[in-house]
Amino acid sequence: MTEREVEPTTQPNGWEIGPLPHFASLVVKRSGDPYDNRFEDNELALLPSRAVIARRDAFRLGRAAAHEALAAIGRDDKPVTIGDEREPVWPAGVVGSISHAADVAVALVAPAGETPGIGIDVESRRYAPELNQHVPRPEERAWLEEADAEERHDRLLALFSAKEAIFKAFYPRVGRFFGFEAASVQPTEGGFVARLAEDLDPAFPPDRSFSVFCGWSGPYVLSWVILPTTGGVGPDH
Ligand SMILES: CC(C)(COP(=O)(O)OP(=O)(O)OC[C@H]1O[C@@H](n2cnc3c(N)ncnc32)[C@H](O)[C@@H]1OP(=O)(O)O)[C@@H](O)C(=O)NCCC(=O)NCCS
Repeated sequence: MTEREVEPTTQPNGWEIGPLPHFASLVVKRSGDPYDNRFEDNELALLPSRAVIARRDAFRLGRAAAHEALAAIGRDDKPVTIGDEREPVWPAGVVGSISHAADVAVALVAPAGETPGIGIDVESRRYAPELNQHVPRPEERAWLEEADAEERHDRLLALFSAKEAIFKAFYPRVGRFFGFEAASVQPTEGGFVARLAEDLDPAFPPDRSFSVFCGWSGPYVLSWVILPTTGGVGPDH
């Protein structure tokens, strides 16, 4: 991904979604937005029958966003099923990610030939001091502590969101759970510069950084990562 290939993009509903590369598609769906998902019945049938209504609604909205994003890259040809660890299973040759919060769902997809991994996360603004337990790295704690109380809550949510996006981008590559200490993020314009802090992925050793977009749209913070394909050290190399 290079500067030449990206431009700031705003969704029709006003969400700021960052400098998305041309090959990727990101969709934001609000509860109540119209959608057309011809695979919905097949996908809902994959949920455990005990799933509560709120869970079914979130799942449905996330899948609606996913299919709209897939259609935009010409790949809306199959249900998005559920993997062993709850990860979405995309049509062959596609990488993608889904997230939901409150009455919003987001999905981000791309052809697998363009990026080795994609992750997205959305969080609604809230007081969530319990998330502090997910900030084990000293450099990240220092960034939180230098802010006043109100700003600190926003920073905490943004940092948490960025790491959830990183987890989703790497999970299909790593194949196992890994915790919040496994990546380090440093604030930069438009989000974070991140790196894995552990040897989880041979293609992303700890000295290889990558960018995480992170931005607020009203009461929501959105984060996404599209892993770069080419070698080198530094953001998006
Ligand atoms: C799996 C996890 C990322 C989900 O995040 P969440 O904030 O609970 O929920 P979100 O709405 O943002 O995302 C849910 C979606 O994530 C996707 N997802 C679930 N498990 C996943 C996995 N293992 N890998 C990739 N995506 C996954 C699914 O699409 C799910 O939505 P769906 O069930 O409707 O399809 C989170 O619960 C988790 O376990 N995190 C692991 C720890 C971590 O993030 N470490 C940080 C490493 S730096």
